[in-house]
Amino acid sequence: MNLPDMLEAKKRTKDKVDFIYTNPVKNDFYVGKKYFIKTYGCQMNVHDSEEISGLLENIGFERVESELDADIIILNTCAIRENAHDKVFGFLGRCKHLKKEKPDLKLILCGCMAQEKSVVDEIMAKHRYIDLVFGTHNIHELPNYLMNLHDGLNIEVKSNEGNVYETGETYHRDSKYTAWINIMYGCDKFCTYCIVPYTRGKERSRKSKDILREVECLKEKGYKEVTLLGQNVNAYGRDNESEISFAELLREVAKTGIERIRFVTSHPWNFTDEMIQVIAEYPNIMPYIHLPLQSGSDRILKLMGRRYTKEEYIALFNKIKKTIPGVAITTDIIVGFPNESDEDFEETIDVVNKCQFDGAFTFIYSPREGTPAAKMEDAVPLKVKEDRLHRLNEIVNNYSLMNNKEYLNKTVKVLLVGYSEKDGSKLYGYTETMKLVNVICDENLLGQIVDVKITDAKSFSLDGIVEK
Ligand code: SAH
Ligand code: SF4
Ligand code: F3S
Repeated sequence: MNLPDMLEAKKRTKDKVDFIYTNPVKNDFYVGKKYFIKTYGCQMNVHDSEEISGLLENIGFERVESELDADIIILNTCAIRENAHDKVFGFLGRCKHLKKEKPDLKLILCGCMAQEKSVVDEIMAKHRYIDLVFGTHNIHELPNYLMNLHDGLNIEVKSNEGNVYETGETYHRDSKYTAWINIMYGCDKFCTYCIVPYTRGKERSRKSKDILREVECLKEKGYKEVTLLGQNVNAYGRDNESEISFAELLREVAKTGIERIRFVTSHPWNFTDEMIQVIAEYPNIMPYIHLPLQSGSDRILKLMGRRYTKEEYIALFNKIKKTIPGVAITTDIIVGFPNESDEDFEETIDVVNKCQFDGAFTFIYSPREGTPAAKMEDAVPLKVKEDRLHRLNEIVNNYSLMNNKEYLNKTVKVLLVGYSEKDGSKLYGYTETMKLVNVICDENLLGQIVDVKITDAKSFSLDGIVEK
């Protein structure tokens, strides 16, 4: 795709630029052109990549699985920790060399890093070989940006969230069985360590009727499972007085009769009794909750701006366990927040010992420019933080194994979603409680919910055989 072609394409379709997006038509110019997309970060980014892919395919692009075969390379980036930044620029450096052999190759960077001013400044100073940078608030404009690409670096980042765009089924969904659904965008919690409120903007809920229509549509297409997405789903509807609450939304989604409903992420603050009741009441709302703890120390929780205490977290955890039979609960924990003491860390270990989580994602604190925590002084050496993480991981993994062993010789329902990576003769899927299971079974069962007898349990997965 060279520049004169681009201009010609623009001329040919000038009047239709908006039309291409709202009612996509294939554009001869793009037909057969190839895109490669690499996604970093959370489920929200994974789903944004499904949207980007859908938009590109609607105008004629085809997906390729290697950057070497692509006419455009898109990096959908994450800004949550520093190492994400290093990975992205490492990959871009390699792509830059590809441009020498393929001068028409376009490099595109989008996602949360694009919303960081420091990153955009860095790109303008040092990475001008990138062709287009666009942000998280204007994904739907991508076809227009491609039409109007100037030679050299194009930057299209908006600091304002704008509206919630209803894009219709423009997604290229990665799975035929499980689907992500955005229920809200952004986050207003401003935990002091976290960059998300800056990269994703303020909380904006989609209309419940649009969400329900999407669920119905996916159900009709044969999808078995939907996962409702938001940085803090408990806050659903709060930005719009006439909208229903998250508990009510869950109930309405359950009533559609879709077989499995999940949601991420719920914040321990404002996790209402009604939410717990609804999850317990409807068998198609899965008994699995990701409930980020972050720290067990009241002092650190306060500095993090998390709005709950250690005791409140444990009380909520116990209430959920008591009310929802067989529920699995996983968590996120940050070690080494500025000036976290040994005592603070022991409080975290204490919560882990009390809650015995099914699993935990653990991270060393990473200062993010522009967040309040990044300004806090920190005298804790990295080595101490690494030792804490190591110790925490050992404890967490033991509890995962202990919880997984409870499944041995039991029969559980598994939705089979793909071929096992380690052993292609097996399928893999997830239990209602979100345990990964590698299953010996006929491949015709792909996409089905089947009864599986569990034969082995490890820290991160189960093995099983389908029951006849
Ligand atoms: N909205 C979700 C979290 C999204 S970010 C929630 O509030 O639970 C996913 C996880 O990344 C967080 O739960 C936190 O554990 C971790 N995280 C966020 N910012 C971080 C930082 N600056 N350093 C290290 N880990 C961080
Ligand atoms: Fe970040 Fe806190 Fe919002 Fe989660 S709730 S995205 S940790 S600010
Ligand atoms: Fe990363 Fe953005 Fe998600 S910072 S974790 S991709 S919201």
